[in-house]
Amino acid sequence: MTAFEPAPLISIAPMMDWTDSHCRVLHRLLTACARLYTEMVTADAVLHGDRTRLLGFDPSEHPVALQLGGSEPAKLAEAARIGADLGYDEINLNVGCPSDRVQSGRFGACLMQEPALVADCMAAMAKAVSVPVTVKCRIGVDDQDPEIALRDLVRLCADAGASIFAVHARKAWLQGLSPKENREVPPLDYDLVYRIKRENPRLTIVLNGGVQSLDEAATHLAHVDGVMLGRAAYQNPAMLAGLDARFFGGAPRNLDTAVEYYCAYVEEKLAEGVRLHAMTKHMLGLYNGRPGARLFRRHLSENATRPAAGIAVLRDALAFVAREREPA
Ligand SMILES: Cc1cc2nc3c(=O)[nH]c(=O)nc-3n(C[C@H](O)[C@H](O)[C@H](O)COP(=O)(O)O)c2cc1C
Repeated sequence: MTAFEPAPLISIAPMMDWTDSHCRVLHRLLTACARLYTEMVTADAVLHGDRTRLLGFDPSEHPVALQLGGSEPAKLAEAARIGADLGYDEINLNVGCPSDRVQSGRFGACLMQEPALVADCMAAMAKAVSVPVTVKCRIGVDDQDPEIALRDLVRLCADAGASIFAVHARKAWLQGLSPKENREVPPLDYDLVYRIKRENPRLTIVLNGGVQSLDEAATHLAHVDGVMLGRAAYQNPAMLAGLDARFFGGAPRNLDTAVEYYCAYVEEKLAEGVRLHAMTKHMLGLYNGRPGARLFRRHLSENATRPAAGIAVLRDALAFVAREREPA
């Protein structure tokens, strides 16, 4: 990166049941620079649900984006305003999730078929908040031509005020594939995302889908403004420890030091009544590849779900892995 190149936008994808606040705290201890995303929260849930539970986040998580689901502009605008008032740094709309539950609510990936409605949603959200409003989408659904579907969505939403597009570079099939299969079966088309960037130099285009390593992310960054890491970051969070040094000129993070900070966080939350497993489940992949990793995982899987499980379970699990600590 030269002094004249803007920093890339590296983010960790919204992932339901995975990227909750505890997970984001762990990821933040590994990278100061990546943008973090919440799990998707529907606009209705924001308006009528338990906001502390659904929207609460730790101050350390910034920069953190709230991902909303919905398709009613007025509700999304109000949900966006609530999110921005709580301090979220970006409000993102989900136009990529293909699950049946989401389709019956007329949001997620099926909205790829209604780009004008998505644009109305973005316009309403943009009017309601001063933080960026952004879109996470697919390249198309079912028999849509992605060359047309993605361009239409990007053009209309950009005109409506959306500034960042995170594109999961594969179609979703709304019938016949499970959400998991929809993340694996439809082929990835990175070139289309690269072309969208070339055609829209002023928009921030972030590529998502199938990126396994920081090396792969670097390759994509020659063509787009950012990369969003999903499963690889969750399943192998240690990769995040090298991210700041690789892309932002920051210092590499020491994994074991980060884990010590996370242990302190876990102790604090245990005292507030949070169950150990809710926090340690995000750590299972941390030591993959290191001696003792299997025993670490097994100890946590077998013991952290017990009702009274405390910090000793995590300490005992950590004792199985060969750890290095930075000198104090
Ligand atoms: C468990 C899981 C839950 C997900 N939940 C969401 C979600 O709430 N919102 C969303 O936009 N995408 C969701 N996704 C999709 C990811 O954000 C991402 O687009 C997808 O996994 C492809 O990126 P990857 O190949 O780097 O994992 C989810 C993915 C997984 C694995």
